Amino acid sequence: MHSRDYYLDLIHDAINALRFPREPQGLYDPITYALDCGGKRLRPMLTLAAAEACGLDPQLAVNQALAVEIFHNFTLLHDDVMDRADVRRGRPTVHMKWDDNTAILSGDAMLTYATIILAENAAECLPQLLAMFNKTAMEVYEGQQYDMDFESRQDVTVNEYINMISLKTSVLLGCACALGAIRAQAGPQNVEALYKFGHMLGLAFQLRDDWLDTFGDTAMFGKAIGGDILNGKKTWLLINALERDESGEVKKWLAINDMPAERIAAVTAVYRRLGLDTECQTEIDSYIDRAIAALSAASLPHDAKEFFTNLAEATRSRNN
Ligand code: IPE
Ligand code: IPE
Ligand code: MG
Ligand code: MG
Ligand code: MG
Repeated sequence: MHSRDYYLDLIHDAINALRFPREPQGLYDPITYALDCGGKRLRPMLTLAAAEACGLDPQLAVNQALAVEIFHNFTLLHDDVMDRADVRRGRPTVHMKWDDNTAILSGDAMLTYATIILAENAAECLPQLLAMFNKTAMEVYEGQQYDMDFESRQDVTVNEYINMISLKTSVLLGCACALGAIRAQAGPQNVEALYKFGHMLGLAFQLRDDWLDTFGDTAMFGKAIGGDILNGKKTWLLINALERDESGEVKKWLAINDMPAERIAAVTAVYRRLGLDTECQTEIDSYIDRAIAALSAASLPHDAKEFFTNLAEATRSRNN
């Protein structure tokens, strides 16, 4: 297996080599902006690593890795409109730098571009790649709809939340792994085990994202802290606070529309008082453990399992 840096370099070079038409600028400039400005590149790294773990030269899976990353960035353009988020990766979001229409249409073009590039140099496994990719895309939209629906509900359960984040986030990490394995023409056992690994990792990843949205450091996280509280997002933290806070303080603050800084501070204080910050981390840890356990069903070289285990360990306490 190669190192994480090796995969990141492959992805970086491939993104730099992408050439979009110059015109119309209003369509293509935001795409270049979104793809240029960093991000952890976790999903394409999973694709390349899964391909190599299953015996393929990772360079041969670069198109599928790019497809996943471009799809992911498309969802972010639309997500930032839906979540009214102004900052991502330490820079203005596309709808802030341009406008909502730009984020919608450039996002649409990214989705189509992702499916084009997914199909390149992969004739022998194209039906399986497309089936996995399209199934996942539909699930992501379902998850995003639940996420929005839950904003206006106060009775969302933890099970509903886990189903929602499974759809909006985790299936794409599972898909990223599976696409690499499919591209390497791995057998169903390895495809499924790697999908399960990515899926469990994705649950931990989104739980940690929600944790960072409240307890993270803006400079490192690259997004505004407290956005989930202001939007009334039914995160694990908020669902448990609504259930356990007998003072009624959380409900009171959720009903208020102004005083954003005070609202964030008050709800965060309740989370801490109830010990939800540490309890949420325990939940994150349990999904990381399940991700690592999923690897035992795969027949992969020792260094490949070590690679995925180390990646999962790093996700436990990620800060960006
Ligand atoms: C953000 O994903 C959306 C979530 C699923 C939480 P990432 O945290 O992977 O975003 P980038 O690509 O690294 O910026
Ligand atoms: C994002 O969830 C999931 C998708 C984009 C599909 P969030 O809304 O929590 O992601 P961030 O925090 O804006 O990156
Ligand atoms: Mg968002
Ligand atoms: Mg969102
Ligand atoms: Mg978030």
